[in-house]
Amino acid sequence: MICIPVTTASRSYEVMIGSGLLERAGETLGSLLGNRRAFVVTVAPVRKRWAKVLVDSLAAAGIPATVLEMRDGETAKRLATLEELAEELVKAGADRGATLIALGGGVVGDVTGFLASIYMRGVDVIQVPTTVLAQVDAAIGGKTGVNLAVGKNLLGTFHQPRAVLVDPAVLGTLRAREYRAGLYEALKCGIIGDVGLFRLFEERHKEILKRDATVVEHVIADSVRLKASVVSADEREGGLRQVLNLGHTIGHALEAETGYKLLLHGEAVGWGLIAATHIALSSGKLDSVTAGRIMNAVLGLGELPRVEVKTASILRRLKFDKKTRQGNVHFILPREIGKVEITSDVGEAAVRGAIEEVRRLARN
Ligand SMILES: NC(=O)c1ccc[n+]([C@@H]2O[C@H](COP(=O)([O-])OP(=O)(O)OC[C@H]3O[C@@H](n4cnc5c(N)ncnc54)[C@H](O)[C@@H]3O)[C@@H](O)[C@H]2O)c1
Ligand SMILES: [Zn+2]
Repeated sequence: MICIPVTTASRSYEVMIGSGLLERAGETLGSLLGNRRAFVVTVAPVRKRWAKVLVDSLAAAGIPATVLEMRDGETAKRLATLEELAEELVKAGADRGATLIALGGGVVGDVTGFLASIYMRGVDVIQVPTTVLAQVDAAIGGKTGVNLAVGKNLLGTFHQPRAVLVDPAVLGTLRAREYRAGLYEALKCGIIGDVGLFRLFEERHKEILKRDATVVEHVIADSVRLKASVVSADEREGGLRQVLNLGHTIGHALEAETGYKLLLHGEAVGWGLIAATHIALSSGKLDSVTAGRIMNAVLGLGELPRVEVKTASILRRLKFDKKTRQGNVHFILPREIGKVEITSDVGEAAVRGAIEEVRRLARN
């Protein structure tokens, strides 16, 4: 088992990573849970495959656990879901000493974390992420939230978990497209600050795509280490944490412009990484050899869904983004493998060029 510490002002905890760890959840989490009751929040696809493994392991360690199911999918990430789950928690006897366990992808993690932060004025949460995206990103750092009809993640809290338990073996049942989408976030971590991780994507992408257990564990652990170190240095996104948004400025605009239907979040980040690389190259901040390596690493993970967007529409979205943030649009640009820069000094021509590059690659 690999243990990676996250140290924030509000709480310090560990991300525990190991293949088969879910089967050992009872012994691993036993000392944290003590004689507290556990309430596992999950969704049907994950419940069917993995809830029993977790609950049996907790039971063997003498920890009683109740399973609560929420509706699956991004549309369930609403305040109404919190209310429904809270009612069920009360009926199931959850008091202030309860611990919630989020077993699922980022949606379950965000909803359960938010619920834990306000249920009876706050109870503990343990994150057990089951998608690549949640394992390398959503489960770590304490951001919780739900969507409003007018926009994503507009209600939320910071609520650090007591622990994060990551079992890469559970990724085996993930749909191929979901699995691959999460990998762009992991690749992002390599570009931000880990040359070794980036090289794994360059040299072992076939094994990564085949879900070779050893390589996958390596990719997940390295990505977690990067996210944990950034979150530890900047819990509330004062500055440094922004580097995690590499690929997200254009990525978000593409996601929104295609109605959150065409692209999974990770796929939008894949296109966003290409766009950021192109901007860095055309602004003279990145050499062409390194830019080529990043492009190849992104494209090495397979085809991304084709996006047909108008440059003007994307530019409009970026301007709106700028207004909502009362400032300039921030771009995170790669300077070399393992080093990025946060800048608001990017000309419109460079952005146009990047969007056109995305369109050109999408056509091929
Ligand atoms: N809090 C944060 O810091 C943070 C960071 C990034 C993303 N997010 C949020 O995460 C969400 C996206 O998360 P996601 O990509 O994990 O999507 P998701 O939670 O919707 O999961 C994707 C799908 O995979 C299924 N699934 C999950 N694990 C499985 C498994 N092991 N086997 C089979 N099926 C499985 C789910 O049921 C779902 O249908 C978004 O709402 C996003 O806003 C939060
Ligand atoms: Zn992301």
